[in-house]
Amino acid sequence: MIITCSNCNTSYNISESAIKKSEVSARCTRCKNVFTIRKPVSNKPAEVAAPAAPEKIEIEGINSDDSNMNARIISVCNQKGGVAKTTTSLNLAVSLNLLKKRVLLIDFDIQSNLTLLMGYKDAKSFFEVIHSDDKGISSYIIKSKLNIWLLPSNSKMALLSKKHLQDVNFEYLLRDKLKSIAHYFDYIIIDTPPSGDFYTLNALLASNLAVIPTPCEYLSMQGVNHIVNMINVIRDKSAHEIDYRIPVTMFEPDNTASRVILKKLQEEYKDHVFSTMIEKDAKVQESQVFHTPTIYYDKESRAGRQYYNLAKEIISL
Ligand SMILES: Nc1ncnc2c1ncn2[C@@H]1O[C@H](COP(=O)(O)OP(=O)(O)O)[C@@H](O)[C@H]1O
Ligand SMILES: [Mg+2]
Repeated sequence: MIITCSNCNTSYNISESAIKKSEVSARCTRCKNVFTIRKPVSNKPAEVAAPAAPEKIEIEGINSDDSNMNARIISVCNQKGGVAKTTTSLNLAVSLNLLKKRVLLIDFDIQSNLTLLMGYKDAKSFFEVIHSDDKGISSYIIKSKLNIWLLPSNSKMALLSKKHLQDVNFEYLLRDKLKSIAHYFDYIIIDTPPSGDFYTLNALLASNLAVIPTPCEYLSMQGVNHIVNMINVIRDKSAHEIDYRIPVTMFEPDNTASRVILKKLQEEYKDHVFSTMIEKDAKVQESQVFHTPTIYYDKESRAGRQYYNLAKEIISL
């Protein structure tokens, strides 16, 4: 039988006859996570065999044999709106791609801002992934002209929480769908809405890293605090391992209040604050008018270069 590690999604093929109880624990040889498998068999943790070959599926523009990755899954979240979540998701994705990484962006925000920024409208979303019986998630992934992939959002995404909030395990909807495609990408980046509810919880439980952008202002810092508290609850209540990092966005080095709040952030969150900061830069807004990531719009732009450096910092984590 095939079992999958609840942390890193590595699949293993184990013999059913080796399991003697209805529930046992297994330890993933790749990430060392101990997880429960049902329909198992012995008092001891089941020995896991070599990883099973990943499932081969069709994704636009990807050779199905080219599937040896183990995606790092990143949620970009902050309970506050307007802190540069969508800007960070897109610019980080293209910067990672410039650094030779294969990246999938997931627009998990009902406002579809990321989808619109990338030039798509009325495309199928995660809502259709969940509500179509015949097609898997791979059929809905678009290869964009930026050489990154996108699972778009549309207005139906708003119905997702209404339809599924009462489901048992509603918070694992996204994680479960990503299992079949994670081995095709180096990074999967999930843009989330400004809330700490259904959508953010699904994104966090599918991710290994939360990137929590914040400008240096009071209310956005409270939004950071909310996400960090959610992460602490997730760590306490489940076996899911997730770390977090905070990029300061729209930073104004000449503004005293900005510098004071930066110091506070660094004191409170220490090494969780990225050393790369994204400055306030009019080129970001200009580039968005032209549906272009900032570094492609102007490769000398401050913010464009800073996002590129942020991508390097993420790779080095
Ligand atoms: N570094 C920056 N410099 C100037 N404006 C920025 C910067 N980053 C984001 N913005 C602007 O801030 C606004 C909010 O950004 P957005 O990414 O949509 O935030 P969120 O997704 O958190 O709501 C947008 O108008 C965007 O153009
Ligand atoms: Mg947004």
